[in-house]
Amino acid sequence: MPTGPHARRLPTIDEHRAPNEGGSDVPSERKSRHPSFGSPDATDADATRRQPDPYAALKDDAWRETAEIDARLQRGDIDEAGWHAEVASLIVPAYLSAETPWEGSGKSGTEGDWEYARSHIGHAIDRDGSFLDIGCANGYLLECLPRWTAHAVDRYGLDIAPELVDLARLRLPELQDRLWAGNALDWEPPHRFTYIRTGLEYVPRRRRRELVERLLGWCERLIVGVFNEQAHAHLTEDLLRSWGHMIGGRSERRNRKKPEMDYRVLWIDSAR
Ligand SMILES: C[S@@+](CC[C@H](N)C(=O)[O-])C[C@H]1O[C@@H](n2cnc3c(N)ncnc32)[C@H](O)[C@@H]1O
Repeated sequence: MPTGPHARRLPTIDEHRAPNEGGSDVPSERKSRHPSFGSPDATDADATRRQPDPYAALKDDAWRETAEIDARLQRGDIDEAGWHAEVASLIVPAYLSAETPWEGSGKSGTEGDWEYARSHIGHAIDRDGSFLDIGCANGYLLECLPRWTAHAVDRYGLDIAPELVDLARLRLPELQDRLWAGNALDWEPPHRFTYIRTGLEYVPRRRRRELVERLLGWCERLIVGVFNEQAHAHLTEDLLRSWGHMIGGRSERRNRKKPEMDYRVLWIDSAR
C-alpha cells in the first residue's frame, strides 16, 4: 500500500467512535425482518450541534459529518460538483496513503475491527448472483466478500474517485474489467445486478431519495450500509420508509466500545 508522511496521522472512519475497539470477541448481533421506528429529523439536529471536522468524510457517520458541506451546498456557496469534490479531497489522499487495506477503504483499527464492522453485509446475500459495490474505494470489501457469504457472487465495483479505482484494479487484477469510475447519480450500468451495496452519505442529502430509487432500478436487492447509528432508534430505516420503501431485512452489531451505537446494514428488494 502507498505510504506517506501523514499516513499515521490521518484518521479513518469512526475513529472517534471506537478508537480502542478490539477485534477478537464474539459479535453481539441482531438480525430482524421487522424494522422499528424513530425520528429521521434527529440526524439533522445532531449535525447542526457538532463542530466541523476536517476528516468528516472519512468516518462512518458521514450522515452527520458532511452536514457542513451540505449546508454550503444549500446556501449555494458550492454546486453539486463542488460537493463531491470537497468530499473526495478529504477521502482520496487518506485512502491512498493508508497503511492497511481496511484503512484504504475508510475503516480504522485492526483487521478484526474491519471484519466485525463489515462482514455482516453477507447477511443480505441470500442467493447466488452479481454484486456491485458502489463506493468500492480500494476494493477491500470486494476482496473480503466471498468469505462473508456461502453464496457465489460475481463481483463489480464503482467509485467516484478514479485514483481509487486504479488502486482497486491493481489490488484485484482479476476484477479489473469490472471496476469502474463514476458517480452513482449519473453512471449508467452495463447490466442489472442481483445486489447493489451503497451508502446514502455518498450524495448530497437532497439527492439521497433519488439515489435509492435510481439504484433500485438496477438491482433485485439494494443493500445500504454498513452505517453507524444510535442503537435506540432506526433513523435510516424510518427515512427510507417515509420515501415509501419496505425494509426487506437488516443486520445489526453493537459497537463494542460505544454500546449506544450500532453498525447496521439494511436491504430493500426491488419491485421487479
Ligand atoms: C467509506 S468508502 C467505502 C468502502 C467500502 N466499500 C465499504 O463499504 O467499507 C466510500 C467510497 O465511496 C466513494 N463514493 C463517494 N461518493 C460516491 C458516488 N457518488 N458515487 C460513487 N462512489 C462514491 C468514495 O470515493 C469512497 O471511496
